[in-house]
Amino acid sequence: MKNNASKKILIVDDESEMRVALETTLQREDYQLVCAEDGKQALDELENQDFDLVLTDVRMPKLNGLELLRAIKESSPKTPVVMMTAYGTIDNAVEAMKEGAFDYLIKGSGFSADVLVSTVKRAFIDPLDYVPPARPTGMIENSDLTGSKRIVTQNEEMKKLLKFAENVAYSKSTVLIMGETGTGKELFARYIHQCSPRASKNFMAVNCAALPEGLLESELFGHEKGAFTGATENKEGKFQLAHQSSLLLDEVTEMSLPLQAKLLRVLQEHEVDKVGGRAPIPVDVRVIATTNREIRRRIQDQEFREDLYYRLNVVPINLIPLRERKDDIPLLAEYFMKQFCQENSRSPLKMDSATLTLLKKYRWPGNIRELGNIIERTCLMCQGDTLLPSHLFFDEEPLTSGKKGALPTGTIYEMEKDLILQTLEEFNGNKTKAADSLGISIRTLRNKLNEYNTGE
Ligand SMILES: Nc1ncnc2c1ncn2[C@@H]1O[C@H](COP(=O)(O)OP(=O)(O)OP(=O)(O)O)[C@@H](O)[C@H]1O
Ligand SMILES: [Mg+2]
Repeated sequence: MKNNASKKILIVDDESEMRVALETTLQREDYQLVCAEDGKQALDELENQDFDLVLTDVRMPKLNGLELLRAIKESSPKTPVVMMTAYGTIDNAVEAMKEGAFDYLIKGSGFSADVLVSTVKRAFIDPLDYVPPARPTGMIENSDLTGSKRIVTQNEEMKKLLKFAENVAYSKSTVLIMGETGTGKELFARYIHQCSPRASKNFMAVNCAALPEGLLESELFGHEKGAFTGATENKEGKFQLAHQSSLLLDEVTEMSLPLQAKLLRVLQEHEVDKVGGRAPIPVDVRVIATTNREIRRRIQDQEFREDLYYRLNVVPINLIPLRERKDDIPLLAEYFMKQFCQENSRSPLKMDSATLTLLKKYRWPGNIRELGNIIERTCLMCQGDTLLPSHLFFDEEPLTSGKKGALPTGTIYEMEKDLILQTLEEFNGNKTKAADSLGISIRTLRNKLNEYNTGE
């Protein structure tokens, strides 16, 4: 028996057939359903009772889906809203995502019942309060890990993502990890595997961008001897090798469309077709995919299959760029510094506070990987026991003032002031966020600002 009976969904669509189709599908999943014919009627319903989710068409008379979304985000911002749209009005759906819609489904292509149900299910998994039904004991957590496998962070949002990853680890759900280059996507994927009941088996990984189509196909699905010229041996694909384990599909958006179709089949049918093979081979694989590209853009450009996206994106994890979690910079810098000293048998190094200030000012296009590299380089440059700004060289120009390749000038007081005012500007004057990002308390931030005001 599914435990959906307590969830109430409002269906809003002006086409009665659509309403009936949605209702029938979701009824089978045991949800409580209420239907409305347009945005206005939906608002009336919302005034009378609470809903756990709203599923709405975009184009409707009286009040359209976008207007309805705005009204809902005003009155009950936490209620997830899923938009339904036709291909022609996909812009509206993207707009809606920016305004806080949970996701969108495309009509016309006839999204399947499966997609509808999985989207609705996902909307009910809130990363922040997702509680798994039961957690096997004896699983590892980040805090138990040591050495290079640990995910170093003190950022609150990242800690929530870690907790979330630990919770979803033991399910079989496909995970899609998104984030800029060097944000730790692979590290996260390995971590999910380590936390999962599959941890005793070997973690497998394939970089989908690294191989040409034919080779990637063999690599993933394997081939029989003689299947094509050069296939002199039987080869087991990574899917087969990852049986009862986890498989990382790195940069999944780089897969060709025919391979995407094949991947979709594996995810749906849980069996692989070897190239030249006669019978499909059943496999039990936990797929974790990563991308640093704008996957929605790829879908819009028809370079990535939308149905595959929904299969992969059962559990989405969005890693935060380093520039948006500056409170992690001191911790990570310290961690990389220690690692360097250990690996090179050097006595412990310290970091000058001005050096740290500069690190916090930088944009970090290469995120944690770049920080690691720069710390290593800085340690190499440093002869003494303290990393000074003069030892520091960035790959890109620092965000702020300063001449070409030069370090920002002025006293530390001036640099700090610059940094604080600029960060404040970056966050549109939001002191809490600015303080967070700077890694100082809001009280310190206020004091500094007062100081600057009276000092001028
Ligand atoms: N929070 C962290 N704590 C410690 N090390 C980290 C952390 N995040 C990333 N790293 C390290 O930074 C490097 C880059 O991480 P990783 O390879 O996981 O990034 P990625 O997102 O997969 O990058 P890409 O998109 O370029 O493939 C690795 O050496 C990893 O160990
Ligand atoms: Mg990677």
